[in-house]
Amino acid sequence: MGTAQTVARPRTLTEGEVEHLDPYAFFAVLGKRVIHPGGRAVTDELIRRGDFQAGQRVLDVGCGVGTTAIRIARGFGASVTAVDIAPLMLERTADHVSRAGLSEQIAVEDGDICSLRFADRSFDRVVAEAVTMFVDRPRAARELVRACKPGGRVLATEFYWRKPPTPEARQLFLGETTKGF
Ligand SMILES: C[S@@+](CC[C@H](N)C(=O)[O-])C[C@H]1O[C@@H](n2cnc3c(N)ncnc32)[C@H](O)[C@@H]1O
Repeated sequence: MGTAQTVARPRTLTEGEVEHLDPYAFFAVLGKRVIHPGGRAVTDELIRRGDFQAGQRVLDVGCGVGTTAIRIARGFGASVTAVDIAPLMLERTADHVSRAGLSEQIAVEDGDICSLRFADRSFDRVVAEAVTMFVDRPRAARELVRACKPGGRVLATEFYWRKPPTPEARQLFLGETTKGF
């Protein structure tokens, strides 16, 4: 966990492998590039609040297939570290980064949001889009803040209930959306 790695080009999965994918990996295999509720509009808002700039060090944890990492690196000239716990996501991120010609600007590595390998105060911006719901949230939040420099920004988006769900709705939702984690 937490080491930089060379990642192979994605291969076609077998039917059996597809059957066992969590819902987000399944979306990735289908070719979906934005894998969170609210879609691109939510990332637009995160970008607006991020005040990203050239030369910043940015960490994107739970990067999915690397779409936001690429957007930040390409759009602002920041240097991005994209981290995910799932090998399939890392494969796809590495592929997208390489195709975007951003391999010098974006490092892709495996890691757990609850136990990041980075020293305290390493990044100017720390991003986590739709990741904390799968883990121990307070622990993940502490890690995101720990990795961020004083005066930096932690930008996290997440599912939330607009009004309290019935126990049945809650169980159904969590059962489906956190499957595999
Ligand atoms: C809902 S998807 C969001 C992906 C991406 N951030 C996006 O918005 O398109 C959740 C992502 O978090 C990753 N993930 C889940 N648990 C994690 C953990 N403990 N540490 C790091 N990443 C994790 C999953 O592999 C998946 O890529």
